[in-house]
Amino acid sequence: MKLFNQIPGSSSSAISYAGLIEKIEILRSTLRWASRLERADIEKLLRQANALRDEVLNLSHKERFVQAAATEPVPADRSPGERRQALLDRSFIFEGAFGDNPRLLAALEMAEKAAPTDLSVLIDGESGTGKELMAKVIHANGARAERPFISVNCGAIPDNLLESELFGHKKGAFTGAASDRKGKFESAHTGTIFLDEIGELPLSGQVKLLRVLEAHEIQRVGSDEPIAVDARVVAATNRNLRKLSVEGRFREDLFFRLSVIHLTLPPLRERKDEIPLLFAYFGDEAAEMLKRRPVKMTPRLRRFLLDYAYPGNIRELRNLIYRISCLAGETADLEHLPEDIRPALAALRGKADAGEAASPASLGEAKRAASDEAERAFLERGLQEAGGTVAELARRIDMNRSHLQVLLKKHGIQAKAFRHREAPPSKAG
Ligand SMILES: Nc1ncnc2c1ncn2[C@@H]1O[C@H](COP(=O)(O)OP(=O)(O)OP(=O)(O)O)[C@@H](O)[C@H]1O
Ligand SMILES: [Mg+2]
Repeated sequence: MKLFNQIPGSSSSAISYAGLIEKIEILRSTLRWASRLERADIEKLLRQANALRDEVLNLSHKERFVQAAATEPVPADRSPGERRQALLDRSFIFEGAFGDNPRLLAALEMAEKAAPTDLSVLIDGESGTGKELMAKVIHANGARAERPFISVNCGAIPDNLLESELFGHKKGAFTGAASDRKGKFESAHTGTIFLDEIGELPLSGQVKLLRVLEAHEIQRVGSDEPIAVDARVVAATNRNLRKLSVEGRFREDLFFRLSVIHLTLPPLRERKDEIPLLFAYFGDEAAEMLKRRPVKMTPRLRRFLLDYAYPGNIRELRNLIYRISCLAGETADLEHLPEDIRPALAALRGKADAGEAASPASLGEAKRAASDEAERAFLERGLQEAGGTVAELARRIDMNRSHLQVLLKKHGIQAKAFRHREAPPSKAG
C-alpha cells in the first residue's frame, strides 16, 4: 500500500490534508505500540498527535477535505444528463452503474477523482445501494485496473480463520493447514483489496489489519518472514463506523485509515426520481438475458412499484424486474410480485378500496405524474415532427442526444414508430 503517493497532476492543498491525516494516524498508531518508550511519554506524545490531528481536521473543515477536493464545483445549470455525458466524454468506466440522481452522480464524480490515487476509500450505504459495484468502478478507473480485484467478506470469515484467510499460512501452522497457502492480501498484490462488511470485523482482526496497513507487509500464519504487499484498499459497510468507533466497537485509528475518502451511497427511497429509468434499464437487461421482449406493466403495478419503499434498494428493484420479466407474459401485474411484499400491497389495496388509489397520494406525486405526462407528450410530438429521427429531434430542442435517448427509454417510446414511410433510414433512432 503506497499510502504516501501523490495524486498525479494534483497540487491541491485539500488533498494534502488527506496526506497529513494519514501521516498523523501512522504516527499515533506507531506511538501506541512503541516498546522502547515509557507509558507516560507515550501518553504525552499521543496527546500532542491528537491535538495536531484535530487542528488539521478543523483546517480541512471536519474531514470534508477530500469531498471538497474531489468534486469540482458543478455549475448549477448543468443537468444530470450533461454531468453523465461529461463522465462518458472523459472515458469514465461505469461498470454498469446507472442513474441520473445528483447524489449518485456526485458519488461517481468522487470515485473518478479517487480512482487514480492509492488513497483508501470507505464506501457506506444501506444494503443493495451498490457499494460493491462502486468499489469495482474505483478499481476499473484506476491504474490498477488490469491487476487483481480481490474481494473479502469480513463478516463471513470465522474468527479463528481470519488471519489465515487474509494473510495466508504456512504448512503445519495449525491443524488442517496441509500446505502453504496465500492469503487475500498477497493475492491482491499490485491490485485492489475490497474489504466488504468491514464493520463486522472483530476487534482482534482490526488490530491485525491495522498493523498490516501500516507496515505494508504481511506474515503468513506460522511464519516470521515478512512479505511486502502493495494493495490499494477499498472497504465497504452498511454500518455507521464513526458511531461504532465512538462506542468503542471499531478502532478509531482504523476508521481514519480506511476513510481517507469517504463515500456514502444514498438509499433508493432518497432517489426515487430514478425509479422509472431503472425500470427501463433493468427491463431491457432482463429481456436480453431471458431472450424476450421487455416486459410491460399494468398502470397499477407501475404505481405500486413507484411508491414502494425498497428496503433492499437497487438490488431489490433489479430482482423484482427480473422476476416479473420471467413470470409475466407480455404485461406484468400485481400478482407477479413476490409474497413477501404483500403487506405493502395490502396497504395499497386498502387505499384502493377507499377509492384513493386512482388519485395521487400527495401533491408531489400529482406534480410528478403531470410533469411525466407533459414530458411524454412533448417527446412524442417532437418525434412526430422530426420524422422519428432522434438526432434531428435532439438538434431541434437543443438537447444532448444520449440524454434524449435516456428520456425516450424512460417513457418506453420507440423512435422507429414515428418514422414516416418516405423518411430515409436513420442511424440515430
Ligand atoms: N447504480 C446502479 N446501477 C445499476 N445497477 C446497480 C446500481 N447500484 C447497484 N446496482 C446493482 O444492484 C445490485 C446490488 O449492488 P451491490 O452488490 O453493489 O450492493 P451492496 O451495497 O454491496 O449491497 P450489500 O450491502 O447487500 O452487500 C447489484 O446487482 C448491482 O449491480
Ligand atoms: Mg455488498
